[in-house]
Parts: sequence; C-alpha cells; structure tokens
Amino acid sequence: MLKKYNWAILGCGWIAEIFASDLRTLDNAVLYAAASRNIDKAKRFAKDFGFQKAFGSYEEMLQDENVDIVYIASPHSFHYKHTIMSLKYKKAVMCEKAFAINSKEVKKMIKTSKQEHTFLMEAFWTRLVPTFQRVLSIIESKELGDLKMVQSDFMFHAPFDERSRLYDLNLGGGALLDIGIYPVFTALQTLGNPENIVANVIKSPTGSDQHIDIIFEYNEDRRAYLRAGFMNDAPNFSIFHFEKGTVQISREMNCPILIKTEEGIQELKEDDGAGFGYYFEASHVMECLDKGYIESPILTNQFSLNLIQTLDEIREKINVVYPNHD
Ligand SMILES: NC(=O)c1ccc[n+]([C@@H]2O[C@H](COP(=O)([O-])OP(=O)(O)OC[C@H]3O[C@@H](n4cnc5c(N)ncnc54)[C@H](OP(=O)(O)O)[C@@H]3O)[C@@H](O)[C@H]2O)c1
Repeated sequence: MLKKYNWAILGCGWIAEIFASDLRTLDNAVLYAAASRNIDKAKRFAKDFGFQKAFGSYEEMLQDENVDIVYIASPHSFHYKHTIMSLKYKKAVMCEKAFAINSKEVKKMIKTSKQEHTFLMEAFWTRLVPTFQRVLSIIESKELGDLKMVQSDFMFHAPFDERSRLYDLNLGGGALLDIGIYPVFTALQTLGNPENIVANVIKSPTGSDQHIDIIFEYNEDRRAYLRAGFMNDAPNFSIFHFEKGTVQISREMNCPILIKTEEGIQELKEDDGAGFGYYFEASHVMECLDKGYIESPILTNQFSLNLIQTLDEIREKINVVYPNHD
C-alpha cells in the first residue's frame, strides 16, 4: 500500500488553487493544511479544496508536527525565507519557481536542506510532464540527428499595474523570473549551458522587465532564441530544430507533439492527464520521500542552481536589480 503524506499549502493564491485541485487526484496525498496570512482566507481555501486544517500564520502551520510536505506558493521574493523556515521545521519542501530571487539565496536553501537532511525541490512541473519527457527522449535517441536550434516563447498580455506581483520589484516582479524562466529552462535542458548570452529588454515604469529577448550562443552552429513578456498574447510554442526535422510542442496541456520531416508531419500524443499537469511533480516528490531521498534525481538542486545562475547572468545584462536581495 502507498504511504500517505500530509501536504500543506503555504500561501493561498492563484497557483495554490490550481495545484490543490490537482493534488486532490493523488491517492497518497492527504490534503492536510492550508496556511495563509489571513485565517478567513485559509478557512475558505481549506473548505473549497477539502483541506483538514486552516492556519492564519505560516509558522503556526509549520509547528504542526503532522505536516510532512510544504508546497510554497508565495511570491518569489519570499521563497528563500519560507523555504529556510520550513526546512528548519524539518518539513519536506517543494517550492514554486523561480526557486528564489538569485543564486546567493538558492545556495543557502540547498545548504540548509543538506544541514537539516530534509527534502528540497523546485516545483518545475514541466520537467515531469510526459510530453516534455518525450522531447528529451527524441533528442537522446538522435533519431532526427543532432539538435541544432531551440525556439521557445512564453508571452501573455498583462497590462501594466504597479501593484501587481508581475511588475512589483519588491515581490520579484518581471517577465524573466516569472515566465522567461520556462524558455531558459527549455534551452538548458536540451542544449545545455550556452557559451555566450545576448539579451534585450523592454522595461516597465517600475524598472521591471516587461519583455525580454534572449539568444543563447553555443559552440559550433547551435543557438537558442527565447522570448518572454507581458505585452502580448502569443501561441507559445517550443520548436526544436534537428538535422533531419523539427519537433514542436505547445505550452497547452495535451496538445500533440508535431514532428516534421521530409516524409511529412507526424502527430504524437502523450497522456498528460485530465488536470493541469501539476500532479506529476507532487507524485514525484512523494516517490522521492518513499525512497528516503533529500533531493530529486530528475530535478536536482544542482540543475536549479544552474538555472538561477543563468537567470542572474541575464539580469545583469538587462540591468534588473531586486532591492533587498541582490
Ligand atoms: N508553476 C506554475 O505554473 C506557476 C504559475 C503561476 C505562478 N507560479 C509561481 O507561484 C508563486 C505565486 O504566484 P501566484 O500567481 O499564485 O501569486 P498570487 O496569486 O499573488 O499568490 C501569492 C500568495 O503568496 C502569499 N503572500 C505572502 N506574502 C505576500 C506578500 N507580501 N504579497 C503578496 N502575497 C503574499 C499570499 O497568500 P496568503 O494571502 O494566503 O498568505 C498570496 O496569495 C510565484 O513564485 C510564481 O512564479 C507558478
């Protein structure tokens, strides 16, 4: 029989709702606690999604010895603080992306996980979705030859609002850490670390990056072209260009993988499930805990550190600084 784990949500915002609705579908996940800075909000969230307990303070929730795993869903600028606090209470942590504001913070989070001998993983859900796993296996198989170029976009329209998390530098606002992280992740996972990075930015009135264009230059003739921003909606595909064809995936769940070669277009369909796709990461965390791991062998903390170091390097180029963090 599967061991059951008591999950707690830290921060009852937008993504926490989506994650909680996927968590409900896992037999070994117990929806145990919802923690908000506001008890009424926590109670409402707990009632809506079926959590057993509600807490009006994050720390009170962490003091509950029955909590096994904390899902941190606060804004990025609080990920460092909330992760360290949770690990010190010996709670396994799955923390939303961006893992923290910069690599200085992520290094300390990883160090604390090791010191406390307690599980830590970035909630980089797309890595565990079957469609993306299939792309990785196509690359590894070399059935289409070598991968030469990656194009990856993540854009949506979010009109400027200085109070919004997306634009407020005090909450880690900016397109790169919020959504540009996905195209950057895609390039790092498939082409690896670039030799050189070129980046251009359009800034918002708060000084945050509203739109960013990035080129990763690699040795020989390989490149990644990455875009992210809040200025317009877009189809948001990732296209992988190989020597003998292209592979296209959509950001939408359950869209077929399109493989285009000289022979024509082939559609491949992976089963990404009926929900939003967040159950794969939650299930993976519980598998890791079943095995006594303190980090995921797939989404390693070294990868997350490499990712945030790359984001630091891009931010330096576009001159976006986070007060009280950098
Ligand atoms: N994996 C994904 O697909 C995905 C998608 C969207 C967002 N995210 C990530 O999830 C995190 C949260 O994003 P979101 O869109 O859910 O944000 P959100 O709706 O603004 O929710 C964030 C929550 O954090 C808590 N919080 C704690 N201190 C806060 C402060 N000073 N100001 C505002 N909120 C504070 C609040 O919960 P309480 O009021 O209950 O305390 C708030 O509801 C971000 O790091 C984001 O990158 C991931």
